[in-house]
Amino acid sequence: PATAEQGPDGVLIIGGVPVTDIAERYGTPAYVFDEADFRERCTTFREAFHDFDVYYASKAFLTRTSARIAEETGLSLDVCTEGELAYAKAVDFPAERILLHGNNKSEADLAAALAYGVGRIVVDSVEELDRLEELVPRFPGSRPGVLLRVTVGVQADTHAHIATAHEDQKFGFSLVSGDAEQAVRRVADSGLLELRGLHSHIGSQILGTAGFEAAAKRLAELRARLAQDGIELPELDLGGGFGIAYTEHDVPTPAKEMADNLRTVVEKECAALGVSMPRLAIEPGRAIAGPAGVTLYRVGAVKHRAGIRTFVAVDGGMSDNVRTALYDATYSVQLAGRVSDAPPALVRVVGKHCDAGDVVVREDHLPSDVRAGDLLAVPGTGAYCRSLAHNYNQIPRPPVIAVAEGRAREIVRRETVEDLMRLDVG
Ligand code: LLP
Repeated sequence: PATAEQGPDGVLIIGGVPVTDIAERYGTPAYVFDEADFRERCTTFREAFHDFDVYYASKAFLTRTSARIAEETGLSLDVCTEGELAYAKAVDFPAERILLHGNNKSEADLAAALAYGVGRIVVDSVEELDRLEELVPRFPGSRPGVLLRVTVGVQADTHAHIATAHEDQKFGFSLVSGDAEQAVRRVADSGLLELRGLHSHIGSQILGTAGFEAAAKRLAELRARLAQDGIELPELDLGGGFGIAYTEHDVPTPAKEMADNLRTVVEKECAALGVSMPRLAIEPGRAIAGPAGVTLYRVGAVKHRAGIRTFVAVDGGMSDNVRTALYDATYSVQLAGRVSDAPPALVRVVGKHCDAGDVVVREDHLPSDVRAGDLLAVPGTGAYCRSLAHNYNQIPRPPVIAVAEGRAREIVRRETVEDLMRLDVG
């Protein structure tokens, strides 16, 4: 994160707080959340995309604090469920700046959104349109703004589990089959819903702009076709997916350049097709939260497998960071609590779960004298680590420790075994 520095004694300092202090006070593993870094990225996106609506994709990392900072910096909020919406409500996030996503929203999700009066609902299926139209009359005065999620048929350059715009995946109305156009026409004719525009999310951890541009072009063509029949679509939401540098090999496009490219492509397409310029929106999650998080672990065991590698086992694992196992994600690791002048050794950082796939960092180097008791830091874990955390082996989820200006505070407390057992009422 932006505020991280290494002291002369080798201790990593984040937000002015030595991680050794955090580990002592709150234990390990722990997610450290650099508030200033998160805030700065919100502001960077807000400014680079000044003429867009910028929805922070809360699924990446959602706490009251992150929702509050997104609100304070002028961002809007993307939520996917009534659960995510509950956090928005808890911080009085302005309803008109909230957008509801989901490919299979329940009646409860939709009812919660209508009750709070969220600004936009991104509809993903015909059944959802049925459910919405049935529900709306129960909320007098309600006429939700609707975007239709379109499967634009772009194969995003990313891991298969997080590519979301080709035909063979679950999200959106197909463009090629005509389903998207039919859905737009249905909403246009609906007396209960307000047609606002189209939505596309091509995938996640996308480093270039080509995929977004291809999506924008296809959506512009659809807009032009519908405009011929007098159907206006004033908004175009291009989704999230802006990648971050997990290693030095990842080179993300800077926000400002991304904004300029997207705006230019849409302007050009609209001019060529003779349609009006829509209000644009984006939904970054990872690019805002990812770099703001660092996970701290304590080493418990080290195994040197001759000629292969060194396995360094830490006190967390796939339950606090499932991304390595699930998406083959690449992380780095550093010794965070002391200096060492031992030569570097190739290591694999593994967790404490009963699963051979329980890997946190597949391959990196640590000083060869790494030993039990050492504190390790894995950066870039601010997005989709806490939010995908689980309890395999009944391991409680780590706390979130926010750091800022030399102070640390626990914003999400550590789960306990009692917390887990409380749900087992048999
Ligand atoms: N908008 C929509 C409609 C999305 O589905 C997503 C992510 C985003 C925005 C935010 O995407 P971001 O800017 O954060 O890439 N668990 C996976 C990522 C799943 C993303 C799901 N949707 C991972 O850890 O990589």
